[in-house]
Amino acid sequence: MWGGRFSAQPGALMQAINVCIDYDQKLAPQDIRGSKAHASMLAAQKIITEEDCLAIHKGLDEILEEIESGTFPFKPELEDIHLNVENRLKEKIGDAAGRLHTGRSRNDQVATDFRLWVRDYLDLFDALLINLQSALLGQADQHADTIMPGFTHLQSAQPVTFGHHMMAYLEMFARDRSRFADCRQRMNESPLGAAALAGTPYPIDRDATTKALEFDRPMANSLDAVSARDFALEALAAASICATHLSRLSEEIVIWTSAQFQFISLSDEFTTGSSIMPQKRNPDAAELVRAKVGRIVGALTSLTIVMKGLPLAYSKDMQEDKEPVFDAFEALELGLAAMAGMVNDMTPNKESLAGAAGAAFSTATDLADWLVMSLNMPFRDAHHVTGRVVALAEKQGKTLDKMDLADLQSVEPHITDDIYRVLSPLASANSRTSYGGTAPSEVKKQVERWKKALG
Ligand code: ARG
Repeated sequence: MWGGRFSAQPGALMQAINVCIDYDQKLAPQDIRGSKAHASMLAAQKIITEEDCLAIHKGLDEILEEIESGTFPFKPELEDIHLNVENRLKEKIGDAAGRLHTGRSRNDQVATDFRLWVRDYLDLFDALLINLQSALLGQADQHADTIMPGFTHLQSAQPVTFGHHMMAYLEMFARDRSRFADCRQRMNESPLGAAALAGTPYPIDRDATTKALEFDRPMANSLDAVSARDFALEALAAASICATHLSRLSEEIVIWTSAQFQFISLSDEFTTGSSIMPQKRNPDAAELVRAKVGRIVGALTSLTIVMKGLPLAYSKDMQEDKEPVFDAFEALELGLAAMAGMVNDMTPNKESLAGAAGAAFSTATDLADWLVMSLNMPFRDAHHVTGRVVALAEKQGKTLDKMDLADLQSVEPHITDDIYRVLSPLASANSRTSYGGTAPSEVKKQVERWKKALG
């Protein structure tokens, strides 16, 4: 492509370190879309003829078909997708191909392609997140009043409902969607037309290519346009946060499916066996989703460090921007899909959830609250009295709701049998009717709100 200035081919090592066609061929659809928009604009501006433009479009369409059908002859000596496509176009349509690169550089071309690729993924993430939210909503709808233990420090804390727990994740994934949406809005500007770095003397129409590629506006500074990769960093940052949410839910699935918890079961579809231990059913999918956050945060770190300290405008370092993003986004795509599958697949075990919800004195706070509300006791005193009741229950090997009234009164004489009203896990959950609380009535309100929101 730059034969004029050079008399020999690059050395083998130069080629080995320079080549990126193995991975940047993923940008082919975006590259061809961008080139078609550029060619149409050049023709409309009379920079190239209509005839050349038609030949370019036809040739590019054929090339896309070749790429999609796996017959495109990729050549590593042509470095990247841009040069491979242009060279193939020349083979197909001859000299007109050489006019496509008028008023353009690979620098604005790759920046445009990469933006389009990231933007497509942001749209895909939104769709996958909606799908995952719908799965969570389905479980929440079915289990708005399925009692389970709520934890702090992974120690039994207070009873909650399974639906409430599902809806907590639904809210996190809503914020992930809004982070991706923010990112999409900020990144949706066109670098095309910035050319190598300084703009171009041709009378190009950047608004036309902006519109054709569905960007909101052309980027206002040509140096920035070819140098900026913060759109990819921001998308990776949002992806990293989303992946931590997936990882937390995965961890819960791993814990919940254990023989010690038995809170939920997963079907054969989302579990694997062991080659030696016949009894095993392992939650591999959950573990793999839990792990994806590692490579996604790794990608954010990689690209941050590639970009750090780079002078304006383009440097070849920036060719190293794509692999981490491709890898991270494909990992998140799979993680989101697998998680939606697992959430749909899981069956809560109501009996063991209820059993665990009633264990470990989980309604002790309700007992203390009863002392406050019925006996007008200061909360700190009620906390102390309840602590003594728990100690006695522990000694007797009983749950709070199974204790004799006389024993309760031995700790606090004013306790009446009205106390039993608040000591069951169900009563505890039912009482938490504050906005956003775990009471099934509140959870159902949130479920209805989200049903409308998700359509
Ligand atoms: N393969 C290059 C990349 O992915 C394309 C841009 C090349 N630009 C240049 N000035 N050498 O970054």
